[in-house]
Amino acid sequence: MAYQELKKYPFKKAIILGSGVSVFNDQEPLISISYAEIPNWPVGKVKGHKGVLDVYEGIWVLRGRAHLYEGFSWQEACFPTQFLIDNGIEELILTNAAGGLNNKFEIGDLMQITGYLNMLEPNKVRGNLDVLTHKVQNFKTATISSTKIHYGNYIGVHGPNYETDLEVEVFKALGADAVGMSTIPEIETAIKNEIKVQAISIITNVYGKTEDLGHEGVVVAAKNASQKLTTLLGIH
Ligand code: HPA
Repeated sequence: MAYQELKKYPFKKAIILGSGVSVFNDQEPLISISYAEIPNWPVGKVKGHKGVLDVYEGIWVLRGRAHLYEGFSWQEACFPTQFLIDNGIEELILTNAAGGLNNKFEIGDLMQITGYLNMLEPNKVRGNLDVLTHKVQNFKTATISSTKIHYGNYIGVHGPNYETDLEVEVFKALGADAVGMSTIPEIETAIKNEIKVQAISIITNVYGKTEDLGHEGVVVAAKNASQKLTTLLGIH
C-alpha cells in the first residue's frame, strides 16, 4: 500500500513501540505501511521490532525503531519522529525496554521518564530537563490511571552491550534509574519541534536483582508488561 495513503488518516497522536512492546495486538489496523516503503526511513533489524507503521482510529503506531548501535546515525534515528511531525502529529508517546538501575524496581514495572542523560553519542550530553519534565508533568495529571508507575531518570547509551558492573555503579551515581539504547533522539526531535512528548520505559531486567536475560529475555519481559502499559495509556 502506498505510504501516501497515510494522508487519509490525519490523526494527531502517535506511539513508538520499543523492543517487544505491543499495543492493539488483536485488532486490524485501518492501514499498515511497511517502513521500507517510506523513502529515507531507517529500517532497523532488531528482533521484536516489526518494522511497520499501523494506523488505528485516532493514533499512528510505529512498531519498532532504528538504533545507533545498528549503525544508524543520529539524524537517521530522528527521521521517523520528524516524519510524524511533518505529517501532523502533535502528541508523541515513546516506549522502550530498559534495564533497571534503581533497586526498588522489579521486572515488568513501568517508569515514566522525567529526566534523561544522553550518552548515546560521545560528547553530546544535551538533555533539556526543564522542557521534558514540564511536558511529562502534563501527562502525569492527564492520563495516569490506577496502574503503578515509577518516575525516574533515563540514561541513554550507545550499546549494543548491556552494562558492565562498573557502568551500573557509575550510572547509578549519576542519578539514573534506568538505562537503555534509544528514545533520546525522538525526545529531542519532539522537543525541538515543540510537540507534546512523553516517554515510558518497561523495566525488563534489574541490575543486582535479576539474571542477565539477553535480548530474547528483554523482548519477553516487555511483551508481558505491554498490557499494563496499554491500560495506563488508555489505548486498547
Ligand atoms: N541495558 C541497556 N538497554 C536495555 C537493557 C539494559 O540492561 N535492558 C533493556 N534494554
